[in-house]
Amino acid sequence: MRRPIIAGNWKMNKTIPEALEFVASIKDGLEAIEEVDRVIAPPFVALAPLADLLKDSQVNLAAQNMYSEEEGAYTGEIAPGMLARLCQYVILGHSERRACFGETNEGVNKKVHAALAHDLTPIVCVGENLEQNEAGITDAFVAGQVRAALEGISAAGAERLVIAYEPIWAIGTGRACSPDAAQHVIGTVIRGTLRELFGEGPAEAIRIQYGGSVKTENVADFMREPDIDGALVGGASLRTSWVDLTRRAVRPESGE
Ligand code: PGA
Repeated sequence: MRRPIIAGNWKMNKTIPEALEFVASIKDGLEAIEEVDRVIAPPFVALAPLADLLKDSQVNLAAQNMYSEEEGAYTGEIAPGMLARLCQYVILGHSERRACFGETNEGVNKKVHAALAHDLTPIVCVGENLEQNEAGITDAFVAGQVRAALEGISAAGAERLVIAYEPIWAIGTGRACSPDAAQHVIGTVIRGTLRELFGEGPAEAIRIQYGGSVKTENVADFMREPDIDGALVGGASLRTSWVDLTRRAVRPESGE
């Protein structure tokens, strides 16, 4: 059985004091929800202070990006080795990085290799835009992104991956994908591609999240789908109701 994973991507929000105050206020609530992996992805500068705050906690941290090289003349970049003691996960290939900062499939693939080499768990983001969705090419496009991101990864490395399916048209729009359509892309397209690449065992072990306008009210509908193992959440991860969202993901009947 795959352990569910709910991750909050803060994007470019919260200063260090705001991050510390917010996490201090939700920490106990999150810690009580033991049946799910709980991950917070703050901006880089908040990672070290939050790692300190969470050092004895089961709540894990993720970076929102990193570079693939070990060190050197790459002004403004962060190397995988710099993240090693600060966080357990790293989000790679988020659509905003692809759209605003020119990230390519090839670059994402290098980052996946680098993250695994440093024992960081990559959360690899894939997803189609509205035009592709309306043109009916979602399945082929997403399968291609998965293949490209995971080129050259071994089956043993693959088992450690998390993949996030985030249709771009659903991100930050309040217009989530239907759970049915997300299950199709995640179960048939993504897990099917993983089966072709790595075989049945790894394909069944890899956790796949849905992302795009997930909130407390709809998270359980996604989690009910057999191949959806969690959520990658933007806007709703910035509020104290984040604890309720996480709880609702694994205890759908909880009214709290
Ligand atoms: P959203 O963002 O939950 O605000 O739609 C999701 C994401 O970009 O990871």
